[in-house]
Amino acid sequence: MDILIKNGRIIDPDTKRDEKADLYIEDGKIADVQPAIRKKAKKVIDARGCYVMPGLIDMHVHLRDPGQTHKEDVETGSKAAAKGGFTTIVAMPNTKPVIDEPTRVSYVINKALQCSPIHVLQTGAITKGQKGEELADLEGMIRAGVPALSEDGKTVMNSHLYLEAMKIAAQYDIPILAHCEDINMANGGCLNDDEVAKKLGLPGISNSVEDVIIARDIFMSFDTGCRLHLCHCSTKNSELMMRNAKEDGQKVTAEVCPHHFTLTSADIKEGNSNFKMNPPLRTKEDVEALKRGLKDDVFDVISTDHAPHRHSEKSGSMRDAPFGIVGLETCVALTISELVKPGVITPMQMAEKMSYNPAKILKLGDRGSLAVGKEADVVIIDPDAEYTIDARTFVSRSKNTPFQGRRVSGEVKYTICGGKIVYEAN
Ligand code: DOR
Ligand code: ZN
Ligand code: ZN
Repeated sequence: MDILIKNGRIIDPDTKRDEKADLYIEDGKIADVQPAIRKKAKKVIDARGCYVMPGLIDMHVHLRDPGQTHKEDVETGSKAAAKGGFTTIVAMPNTKPVIDEPTRVSYVINKALQCSPIHVLQTGAITKGQKGEELADLEGMIRAGVPALSEDGKTVMNSHLYLEAMKIAAQYDIPILAHCEDINMANGGCLNDDEVAKKLGLPGISNSVEDVIIARDIFMSFDTGCRLHLCHCSTKNSELMMRNAKEDGQKVTAEVCPHHFTLTSADIKEGNSNFKMNPPLRTKEDVEALKRGLKDDVFDVISTDHAPHRHSEKSGSMRDAPFGIVGLETCVALTISELVKPGVITPMQMAEKMSYNPAKILKLGDRGSLAVGKEADVVIIDPDAEYTIDARTFVSRSKNTPFQGRRVSGEVKYTICGGKIVYEAN
């Protein structure tokens, strides 16, 4: 089926185009982008007032498949992603069992080919079982198609082992997606180490729990030539260290998640563990630094860290609940409401951080672009559509969001993957 998208605002970092134009899709590819395309298409979409961007790419998703499919699976997670405007997602390996061998990588890839409307990529764990004791079969997993290695959910605390992994990653030129948390210092903390944690009588997680590992990882990537990508940066010093590393010309990139630029620990509703995630919600000063870093392109990527958990697990005490919140279906609205509308970043920067830069980091040559001839992965977003977030409408199998009832602006109207409409708002 051919599709003609009319009158939208085409925002494409690859061709540096930001203008009102039509976009024509044929045989799964971008076939034409022009101010006025006169063609009869089977499907015509009026995108007046909407952004037309390259399909969004989320570099950080937990699909819980295999092993915890009561929380999410490849099918529900990828459908939630399609609703969120994503045409490619990257799944983290902290599943049960851990994805630490080639056959397990293939399991997810093959399952996605059968049930996912969008592209699903799978990362491989760095150590066997994420136990931090011996390296997993990194080369085998690279041959099986992982676009990156990651120990997410944990940090490889043994720096010698990590150094070996970095050398292999450097040799194959694939990035390491680093979860930065000194587990000894974290010592069972569950909220940011500040007055809020004190008031609630809960153990804190200081900024340095994250900062010391960020520093270590940056130095180690410099020594090995490994491409390092920092996951879910949350502290003011993460911004400072990234700024320095980039000024030095180092191969470091970094992401920020919507919850960390939207909320502070002061927003935590007592007893509601949907405000518990790792790293934790920090302070106003940290949020301001994150926004500054996003504005100045110190931070390259916005990712969700979509971390589904069941209601029963999240309804217990703050102390016992698992870390993590769902994010795929709220990311676009929060990015527009908190960053684009207030003028922190431009719509072009949004397209860079949510599509173009992830494609570059993961080396997905035909994605993250609206250039003629590229794969037709496209998202159409109405930035002015206002609504109230309601987890009951989520496609995800889990509903653990701290944004229930929040008014936002910015709605995904269509998601098109490989020239097929995979999501359409009703
Ligand atoms: O909040 C989080 N949830 N942070 C992590 O590092 C892990 C993730 C999960 O897997 O639930
Ligand atoms: Zn993590
Ligand atoms: Zn994660």
